[in-house]
Amino acid sequence: ESGLITLDPGYKNTGATKSAITFLDGEKGILRYRGYSIEELAEKSTFLEVAYLLIYGNLPDTKTLEEFRTGITHHTLVHEDIKKILEGFPSNAHPMGVLSSLVTSLTAFYPESLDPNRSAGAVDMSIIRILAKLPTFAAWAYKNEVGQPVVYPDNSLDYCSNFLKMMFALPTEDYQIDPVVAKALDTLLILHADHEQNCSTSTVRIVGSSQASLYASLSAGINALWGPLHGGANQAVIEMLENIKADGGDTEKWMNKAKDKNDPFRLMGFGHRVYKNFDPRARIIKKAADDVLNKLGVVDPVLDIAKGLEEVALKDPYFVERNLYPNVDFYSGIIYRALGIPTEMFTVMFALGRLPGWIAQWKEMRENNEPIGRPRQVYVGEKERGYTNINKR
Ligand code: SDX
Repeated sequence: ESGLITLDPGYKNTGATKSAITFLDGEKGILRYRGYSIEELAEKSTFLEVAYLLIYGNLPDTKTLEEFRTGITHHTLVHEDIKKILEGFPSNAHPMGVLSSLVTSLTAFYPESLDPNRSAGAVDMSIIRILAKLPTFAAWAYKNEVGQPVVYPDNSLDYCSNFLKMMFALPTEDYQIDPVVAKALDTLLILHADHEQNCSTSTVRIVGSSQASLYASLSAGINALWGPLHGGANQAVIEMLENIKADGGDTEKWMNKAKDKNDPFRLMGFGHRVYKNFDPRARIIKKAADDVLNKLGVVDPVLDIAKGLEEVALKDPYFVERNLYPNVDFYSGIIYRALGIPTEMFTVMFALGRLPGWIAQWKEMRENNEPIGRPRQVYVGEKERGYTNINKR
């Protein structure tokens, strides 16, 4: 039997599907969404335009983009009963757990979304709804954590400005949107929007392959992203940099810990399954970190620690021979922090960015009628044996 099965733990050398959405070249450090380079999209596009591109395959014309944007703007409000679910969480609940729970709750408020045979138009409505409501859920999860009243969406604002206002507005004073902050956030969401068959996207696909609903599949993807080896790395990077700062900034000591096989510590934000060169997103984010912090007049000592670590790691034989370079998570937390976003919300920001990618991949999988995901195994357990009564064990 085992002769027929090829074991590939972590699917390091297994292609799970054919996809027309995102192209990666790990050797050359290339990332393209539907053929457009990440560098061009980060510079010239907007997050909602990129979301449309990923999900529907082409850049929209003015009318189409306006309809898409208007549809999303007018679905940002959530059912008042969702506040009851939110209030059931203690304030120490991690926002990622709240987010995946609220997304799953949408299957109750929109039961038609459970029908695997519903029309393409109905699927489009589900897509508009979740793109519209995830920022509301994310901001409300934060408000629940800090014990402040939730802020309702404001339809006069663009996607990122609306999110920032729901995050930081208080009933006691006016909230001023800083266009630098809104633009930096929009660029970060573009950079996180898709990344072919990563752990959380593969999760969305395999859950959706059983004909589970879009919302159930996305909730599973949020939970997969939560792990520190995946999207949770952006939070782990800042915690690591803070530890190094508190430890007197002794980069050498932490580099040695990262190389020590007996020490579980890894240099968070470094290494990647596909990129054996610089993650092109990390290159853009590193430059954006300098720009945004300068524009906002923010001086963050952990940025210097991060740059020091990168400099040492890129010359260290252990990292060089394993092709370990900074990945998307290494610098993103430094920008989020400068934008006033708290550390425990960093992975939620990743989820907001990755949402259109998850949707696009789920839609492609369903449109291609892909089979239910069900890998095999090589059995290494006990041979057949007879039952023994408890008084004989
Ligand atoms: C994301 O897949 C995606 O595309 C993900 C993502 C996306 O957009 O969806 O790009 C987002 O998740 C980025 C990665 C964020 N994670 C981290 O920064 C956590 C730290 N990095 C790693 O744990 C690791 O590099 C992974 C998980 C990212 C990749 O792991 P792999 O491909 O399974 O590689 P591996 O764990 O087998 O490591 C290979 C070698 C090992 O050493 P040897 O056993 O060969 O001696 O490199 C070492 C590892 O010990 N290594 C590290 C290291 N990463 C790998 N050593 C120290 N520090 C690290 N960060």
